[in-house]
Amino acid sequence: MPGLVVIGAQWGDEGKGKVTDLLAERADAVVRFQGGNNAGHTIIRDGETFKLHLMPSGILHRGTLCVIGNGVVIDPGVLTEEMEELRRRGVDIGGLRISANAHLIMPYHLLLDHAGEAKLGKLEIGTTRRGIGPCYADKAARLGIRVQDLLDEKILKKKIAAALYPKQLSLRPFAKDPRLDLQSMTEEYLVYGHRLEQYIADTSKLAWELLDAGRSVLFEGAQGALLDIDHGTYPFVTSSNPVAGAACVGAGVGPGDIHDIWGVAKAYVTRVGAGPLPTEVDDELADELRTAGGEFGTTTGRARRVGWLDLVALRYAARLNTMTALAITKLDVLSGQDKVLVCTRYRGTDDAEFDHFPYHQSVLHHARGEYEELPGWTEDLGDCRTESDLPTAAREYLTYISEFVGVPIALVGVGPGRDEVIWAGGDVHRAAA
Ligand code: IMP
Repeated sequence: MPGLVVIGAQWGDEGKGKVTDLLAERADAVVRFQGGNNAGHTIIRDGETFKLHLMPSGILHRGTLCVIGNGVVIDPGVLTEEMEELRRRGVDIGGLRISANAHLIMPYHLLLDHAGEAKLGKLEIGTTRRGIGPCYADKAARLGIRVQDLLDEKILKKKIAAALYPKQLSLRPFAKDPRLDLQSMTEEYLVYGHRLEQYIADTSKLAWELLDAGRSVLFEGAQGALLDIDHGTYPFVTSSNPVAGAACVGAGVGPGDIHDIWGVAKAYVTRVGAGPLPTEVDDELADELRTAGGEFGTTTGRARRVGWLDLVALRYAARLNTMTALAITKLDVLSGQDKVLVCTRYRGTDDAEFDHFPYHQSVLHHARGEYEELPGWTEDLGDCRTESDLPTAAREYLTYISEFVGVPIALVGVGPGRDEVIWAGGDVHRAAA
């Protein structure tokens, strides 16, 4: 490896969990570097389904160090529940380490997220309402509560009081909500502190030690590049940076520690929440793909919007992340389509054409995909394990993607199980990974 970043190359839900889980097998450590429990990973192992929100995907591999980095925002209630659930199902979580510098989602962040969306009305972003945005906002305002604060009652109470004060105005309708009582909030969070204490660590140092010893560290992104707060479809984005560059900041390593960057993209696109999706389809094809692909959110259960593969956006994500490899997931979902469409440029107002991802919000909101039609295939792909097992049309589809984006395809998903993959390009990438 040694420093490999895996990021989502679209609008999240690309199947990063499975890809990370496969790569984690060879990694000494897996580090999550941004986001929080707005993410949801479904991993299927030996017929058992695990839905993870905060835990790094490597947690299912005994002996892998699993780090929640400083860039993650942690809801300690959700994290402790997830830990409990994994323990109940016999998973050893002894390798978990939590950055002392990671910020905590507090009850007022959840209320602010709800209230903010309600206030926006029709203009709502469609957040997961998990308090992610308000937590990152407090981090930037230097009013955040960090994991290390859980270990000192006096500091914790003082910091919560300071953070709570400015919220009281905007949360006036909730003034009597018991969740906002300073004393009980402090007590609740101290209990979390006791539960988490043994896992709290200086996680940057742990990553340095492994990297300096030539060991492999996998940096696991959440959401996707087009939900990036700087480079995505702002304001319809998340509040962190799900791009590869953020792995350094959110894990505490330098750019020189990153050697490979994998982008994960579905063979089509999906998006939850509001915001531009230039290749969106909303006829019966949308229902068909949604059903075939199980396109309902892991975190919120919401039906995902679906569309044809957007190569303009994917090429943008490839450049933004300097991707060294692509993993294309859910190719099997396209089986049975007479033809498959790929978007190679956008058309905007006044017939303007764009072959690059427009930076301007108004342009992007009016952009519609223009397509190349490629032949479809009818075969079920579930049993394909090498590229030569794939029907010619499916192979051609992959070649088209790779050539257009300028990035080799390393892995192809052909079903939900962890063995339902093709390591593409021979075993070159498998060996490198
Ligand atoms: P937030 O991250 O909850 O603030 O939501 C902001 C936007 O990001 C919304 O459109 C969410 O639907 C989207 N989002 C956040 N997390 C995920 C994810 O893991 N997958 C897909 N979309 C996400």
